[in-house]
Amino acid sequence: MTQKRTIPLSKPHYPADLRKTIAADIESILESGRLMSGPWAKNFEERFAGITERNYAVSLNSCTTALQIALNFAGVSGRGVLVPAGSFITDISAVQFAGGRPVLVDMNPETLALDLGDLARKITPETRAMIWVHLTGAIASDYEAILEFAVRHDLFLIEDASHAHGASIDGRPAGSFGDASCFSFYPTKVLSSGTGGMLTTDNPDIARYAREMRMFGKQEGTGEIIHRGNDWFLDEIRACVGYHHAGVLGEQVAHRRMIAGRYFEALANHPGLRLLDPLPGSKPAWYQYPLFLNAGIDRAAMIEAMKEKYGIEVKGIYKPTHHEEIFRSLDDGTLKVTEEVLDRSLCLPMHAEVSEADADRIAAAVASEIRASLS
Ligand SMILES: Cc1ncc(COP(=O)(O)O)c(C=O)c1O
Repeated sequence: MTQKRTIPLSKPHYPADLRKTIAADIESILESGRLMSGPWAKNFEERFAGITERNYAVSLNSCTTALQIALNFAGVSGRGVLVPAGSFITDISAVQFAGGRPVLVDMNPETLALDLGDLARKITPETRAMIWVHLTGAIASDYEAILEFAVRHDLFLIEDASHAHGASIDGRPAGSFGDASCFSFYPTKVLSSGTGGMLTTDNPDIARYAREMRMFGKQEGTGEIIHRGNDWFLDEIRACVGYHHAGVLGEQVAHRRMIAGRYFEALANHPGLRLLDPLPGSKPAWYQYPLFLNAGIDRAAMIEAMKEKYGIEVKGIYKPTHHEEIFRSLDDGTLKVTEEVLDRSLCLPMHAEVSEADADRIAAAVASEIRASLS
């Protein structure tokens, strides 16, 4: 049997004509010798502020940096920060870097976001902030209640939109919510500059603080060092890649939506699994396309079979953060939905190079493996 080409789970895609443009622009950056704080960071920030409909976008070297800056600004040191247990590990470590105390919150299985009941149970008078993550790329349908919770309890709201470049709900883009929003441009992301990050906000004080922190804490205007900062800026080469990739974000997200529609059509009524079914007002970025296997289906065996038999890479969303060695002490025994959802999750390949025929092949392979394990 001839082995079909391997389909990777994720892959940043730069169309051929865009690659040529990027190469020419990088050549001129190198020729100019200006590798930082130049026109490309500014271009990228302006384009990104437009995409997120924010007054300010500050380019940084990573999302973890953006989170830490936002948390520092909020003054979380010695205070509690509500963080989803089902997310990426640095949502927790950034709180600790900023001197805060992460309090893990369980998941709403329908939205994959913070569970409102558990938020209400975990908040205390010493809670200062909350991190809200659009896990896999869809903004939660109960977003208004999440926003209202933060306002009612006077919490500094940080939106981690690292999975949601180009997503929106009711016409409101990801990165436009809360006091500060943070993005990652890590290589697996919908938009990638290699590595990199962005903080978006409407608050001029937060934007200035982020610009000062990324330059060793140097005050704008005086040049005095007034914060304990770092060299957290995004250099010109990566800003150039990010700027150009942001220019094709709309069409790449549209492609992801088309592939997601194809997966949904093929698998929605299939026994043995559950799919996400966003409401009509929600336009996910589909950073990942997750499905959730029924109990009794061996996920590890399925991941192995998809790779060995079909050359298709699949994997779970994340391990629950409190199951990572370093964060085990944060497990208070209340994070059962997160565990159930993440441990049953399986993400299908999702990127600009997945064709319609690939999507059909992937869905057929999944259906066949599930049927085999149910029989
Ligand atoms: C939800 C989320 N938050 C934060 C991060 C950290 O991003 P970075 O690697 O840019 O620091 C990631 C990266 O994978 C992520 O997926």
